[in-house]
Amino acid sequence: MLAPALERTILQQKINSLKKEKNAVILAHYYQEPAIQEVADFIGDSLELSKKAAESTADIIVFAGVHFMAETAKILNPSKKVILPDMQAGCSLAESCPPEAFKKLKAQYPDHVVVTYINCSAEIKAMSDLVCTSSNAEKIINSIPAEKQIIFAPDKNLGKYLIQKTGRQMLLWDGSCIVHEAFSLDKLLQLFREHPKARIIAHPESEPQVLKVANYIGSTSGMLDHVKNSDHNIFIVATEAGILHQMQKEVPWKTLIPAPAKEDNTCACSECAFMKLNTLQKLYTCLEKEAPEISFSEGIMEQALVPIQRMLQLS
Ligand code: 13P
Ligand code: SF4
Repeated sequence: MLAPALERTILQQKINSLKKEKNAVILAHYYQEPAIQEVADFIGDSLELSKKAAESTADIIVFAGVHFMAETAKILNPSKKVILPDMQAGCSLAESCPPEAFKKLKAQYPDHVVVTYINCSAEIKAMSDLVCTSSNAEKIINSIPAEKQIIFAPDKNLGKYLIQKTGRQMLLWDGSCIVHEAFSLDKLLQLFREHPKARIIAHPESEPQVLKVANYIGSTSGMLDHVKNSDHNIFIVATEAGILHQMQKEVPWKTLIPAPAKEDNTCACSECAFMKLNTLQKLYTCLEKEAPEISFSEGIMEQALVPIQRMLQLS
């Protein structure tokens, strides 16, 4: 039996040669496990990954992330093969917004502009006027004429944060991210008392009480840039713990502490079980077999492309 480190290196080498052979590109989100991030051609937040997908010249896009991200890549590249290591890699936000229920809400407010967070299904995007990510949401909301009413879905926490930032009243869908809702304010404040020089940084999917004590709020890439450019040396990081891999690589001399979850767990952090369904082995198998592949029912793809393109133009 091979040692795990050797096994990992061999798999990574096999993935790298398959990538070349098949003209494939691996796009990975920051929440993926380190072994996957190491073989990725590009690591980024949702907006950066959508942009990379839009400009890709590869024949195959391997999306090391969750289903809605791979779907977005396919919508932007209808003629390319887009594969996802584990089709079960979903998202609590996307699941919280079923198309039939959303259609009913939309029908009640026909004059509202519909803005959806990218963490939703293609069916929901197809019913939207604009899509946004956590890094451009404020800009997207501000681009809507002041006299227009807005429906924002599915993340109520990001929605509340945007209401506060933009001063726009919005009708919010009642969805949330289980990973960002898992943070404990009490434990976070206790950690801060132990590290009084620390800066608290948080993702806007976090609950309002966590955002209230944060020194910086931003997307995963925003948080990474903040940690790199800040004069401070200790950070308590309130987002999925996978980001710490890339952050620590960028600033090895800084102390990065994951924000603790309400439930006691081994990592004293919050991890996305959906993101972690992807493994290096599954990534290899999916590239080898070129499956499972993202596919769509007729019509949805064309409709969902419109609000995504509007977002990319505005970003
Ligand atoms: P960003 O990487 O765009 O900040 O999104 C975070 C997230 O929860 C992705 O699922
Ligand atoms: Fe969805 Fe939250 Fe996981 Fe991101 S971290 S994929 S928003 S459940």
